[in-house]
Amino acid sequence: MRVKIIGSAAGGGFPQWNCNYRLSRAARTGMSSVHSRTQSSIAASADGTGWVLFNASPDIRQQIAQTAELQPAADAPLRSTPIRAVVLTNADVDHIAGLLSLRERQPFAIYATAQVLATLEANSIFNVLDPAIVPRRLLAPTKELAICDADGHETGVVVDAFPVPGKIALYLEQRGDPSADFSSDTGDTIGVRITGAGSRDAVFYIPGCARIDASLRARVADAACLLFDGTVYTDDEMIVARVGQKTGARMGHIAMSGEAGSIAGLADVKIGRRIFVHINNTNPVLDEDSAEHAAVKAAGWEVASDGMEMEF
Ligand code: MLT
Ligand code: MN
Repeated sequence: MRVKIIGSAAGGGFPQWNCNYRLSRAARTGMSSVHSRTQSSIAASADGTGWVLFNASPDIRQQIAQTAELQPAADAPLRSTPIRAVVLTNADVDHIAGLLSLRERQPFAIYATAQVLATLEANSIFNVLDPAIVPRRLLAPTKELAICDADGHETGVVVDAFPVPGKIALYLEQRGDPSADFSSDTGDTIGVRITGAGSRDAVFYIPGCARIDASLRARVADAACLLFDGTVYTDDEMIVARVGQKTGARMGHIAMSGEAGSIAGLADVKIGRRIFVHINNTNPVLDEDSAEHAAVKAAGWEVASDGMEMEF
């Protein structure tokens, strides 16, 4: 199984188009310790030929352009793609907007939970992907599912989806609803365990997660690799940076640091490699020379960058 991180930034990317915070500025000026990143997506392949995308980011065109494996092969038909399927982990803009760039009557399959499928259904713009050509299939937690292409042929990638604490997409929030729960685990946001048929090694991909509880800790124990929500380093980071009013928790994202953070929450769980993905443009770990980056590394974590690849 090959897994490639094709986009390691959170929604907005890095630098974000309208962001003038010091980190986005450093990325634009080419500071050597700060590297640009595209929005949240990974790709997995069991045979090195066909690929399953996990999330379709608004940067998908650029991601395909910089990833040879995702481009049509030289001897392939005039219209073709090695992308066999797209698995969605929630309905956030950074995870579904790229579907619109995959139009052109090209067959592949979409897998998502009932909630996310309902969002696609409710927004007619997604009909640019004719369901007769691009079938939409239910990804029901928590049953192991062999991911197939549009014709029903197995890709060799097997997924086990499970709800994680999170929230509905920002544009679906009932504004002002005092009972809104931004850390519920009703399936609006899922994590996925990715394996190859008959493989013992598993990679977990959880780009959004509000909390680490006992069930999540048990689930990821003994994983070969965990790709986990690295949106913010501290919960109030966006407020302190004066770029927004929301905490990480309010956005459905656990912080890396602190007693309730992901580093502490997973410290005693046995995991092969632990890598932060979905990194927001305010997160100080984006600067490789920062104390926060050093602290994350010292705690045994890696900070994902675009193009990072692993094999299991
Ligand atoms: C998130 O991860 O919280 C969302 O991608 C935020 C957004 O919609 O920009
Ligand atoms: Mn996001």
